[in-house]
Amino acid sequence: MSDIIVRRLLIDLDTPPERHWCGGDAFRTAWFNALSMSFPQGEQFFIDSVRAAVQTLPEAERARFEPAVKGFIGQEATHRRIHALFNAHLEAQGLVNHWEPRAQRRIRQLEGADLRIAVGATAATEHITAILAEYLLCDAASLQGAEPRWVTLWRWHASEETEHRATAFDLYRAMGGNEEWRLRLLRLVTWHFVTDSLRQTVNNLWHDGSFWRWRTWVDGWRFVFGRRGIVRAFAGPWRRYLRADFHPLQQDESRAVSWLRDNATQFEPVGRPAPATTVATPT
Ligand SMILES: [Fe+2]
Ligand SMILES: [Fe+2]
Repeated sequence: MSDIIVRRLLIDLDTPPERHWCGGDAFRTAWFNALSMSFPQGEQFFIDSVRAAVQTLPEAERARFEPAVKGFIGQEATHRRIHALFNAHLEAQGLVNHWEPRAQRRIRQLEGADLRIAVGATAATEHITAILAEYLLCDAASLQGAEPRWVTLWRWHASEETEHRATAFDLYRAMGGNEEWRLRLLRLVTWHFVTDSLRQTVNNLWHDGSFWRWRTWVDGWRFVFGRRGIVRAFAGPWRRYLRADFHPLQQDESRAVSWLRDNATQFEPVGRPAPATTVATPT
């Protein structure tokens, strides 16, 4: 995969989702809903960080990065718009987004700080997102039983996350970001991701009336800690980031390439494709 293509998704976003749209599974639905709630704010932060970062580079470097940055911004802007539409349905169902104000407070704390912190945090989050993308594309059980249009939404997002997974990382390196902060930011971002996603999932279950159901927690335990659960799916790939020779393009992209090829009727490209990266060397 060599281009970052912005795509317009062609699914029905007007008809509200079922309350437990993910195969009738309250826990999985609440978890995916929680992630969706984090995207509009989070992805705006990524866009702002990357857009500001490229302006700090020397002219020749900036020219090399600009096509990838343009593709990155175009994809993330589309994701946040689509997830905002989805989140409006969740709000109408009575769910309350607590993750967004927490993220906003943390982003405000970065005002005036070295821009490499924002870009390093973006790169770390993109690593988590890329792992999530791999999980969604490889494990059929993750979205089993979900309404087809939401499967399309999540796998389209996952595929595009795979395409632009190296942009923020390459920028962080180009800005002279060091290894110590790269790893420190991964640990910090992971802590916030785990606690925020857990808190928002529990809150969603509370608001949708599933909190006190025994079934919710049996399914939840299996989804999180089971043999094919998210903890096992995340642990190994997460650790790869700790290696000094890590690069995001080392992650296999074949599932994303196949999904985009096999589901080409579900979206249409917007504008011209941008090169995925100009500096990375996949191994
Ligand atoms: Fe995204
Ligand atoms: Fe992303």
